[in-house]
Amino acid sequence: MKWKDKVIFLTGASSGIGEALAIALAKRGVVLGLVARREEMLRDLAARCEAAGGKARVLACDVTDAGEVQKAADAIQAEFGRIDILIANAGIGGNNSETRELEPDAVRNVIEINLLGAVNSVHAVLPHMLERGSGHLVAISSLAGIRGLPRSAAYSASKAGMTAFFESVRLDVQSRGIDVTIIQPGFIKTPLTAGRENKMPFIMELDDAIPLFIRAIERKKKFAAFPWPLATFVRAGKIFPAWMYDRIVGRMRFRE
Ligand SMILES: NC(=O)c1ccc[n+]([C@@H]2O[C@H](COP(=O)([O-])OP(=O)(O)OC[C@H]3O[C@@H](n4cnc5c(N)ncnc54)[C@H](OP(=O)(O)O)[C@@H]3O)[C@@H](O)[C@H]2O)c1
Repeated sequence: MKWKDKVIFLTGASSGIGEALAIALAKRGVVLGLVARREEMLRDLAARCEAAGGKARVLACDVTDAGEVQKAADAIQAEFGRIDILIANAGIGGNNSETRELEPDAVRNVIEINLLGAVNSVHAVLPHMLERGSGHLVAISSLAGIRGLPRSAAYSASKAGMTAFFESVRLDVQSRGIDVTIIQPGFIKTPLTAGRENKMPFIMELDDAIPLFIRAIERKKKFAAFPWPLATFVRAGKIFPAWMYDRIVGRMRFRE
């Protein structure tokens, strides 16, 4: 797959994985629609993307607002004629309160951003992709969506939903020229994981993780999970009986 001149709609671009992906892709000569709420950070990133050899447009918006996301996608489609790739990356980790205190508003916020924000993004780009008979939807989901995790009820539910949503969409669009890649990373050092006191198993440096995201997209993989030792453990955990899973995973404290 050639990256040069690909038009990419990237949500959650203002920090962490999104920011690092934007720079890495700009070096490959792509056109980027940069979506997030913090406009100043997007402006600064857009300048760095242009300096790195890409084209970038700032699209400050909240992914929970379907109308705003549509307007942002329409602006890119109007200027460049198409969107080749959606990278649905915007997300929050939530804090522990939604699990400990089961605050419905806090849970709803995590689901609205992580799951429904991605749904809004797909809705904004897919009709044009279907008309053209080509396009690529990429979900930045998580290993946390494979089974429930301690202190992570809202996050884990949002990522399980995201994985199921994109896999279901794939079944509906696979024969119409659309590829769907679901990426399930483990822990990566970004603002989302910063400030946690306990050790996160196999946590990756952002610079080591970015090539894995890019390779998964280039190869149009259906699923990509990493780092491999954690991905293997988590995938194996799918077949653990509940009593064994609860005993092993229930002791883990990586969210604190
Ligand atoms: N870091 C990890 O260990 C890890 C592991 C697995 C999966 N992930 C997933 O990777 C994605 C990126 O996370 P990250 O680690 O890079 O975290 P991050 O540095 O906190 O970045 C999150 C990004 O999402 C954007 N965002 C949040 N709420 C938004 C909203 N309502 N509308 C638009 N944009 C919004 C933020 O921008 P604004 O605040 O400016 O809007 C920011 O650009 C998330 O979906 C996360 O769940 C992360």
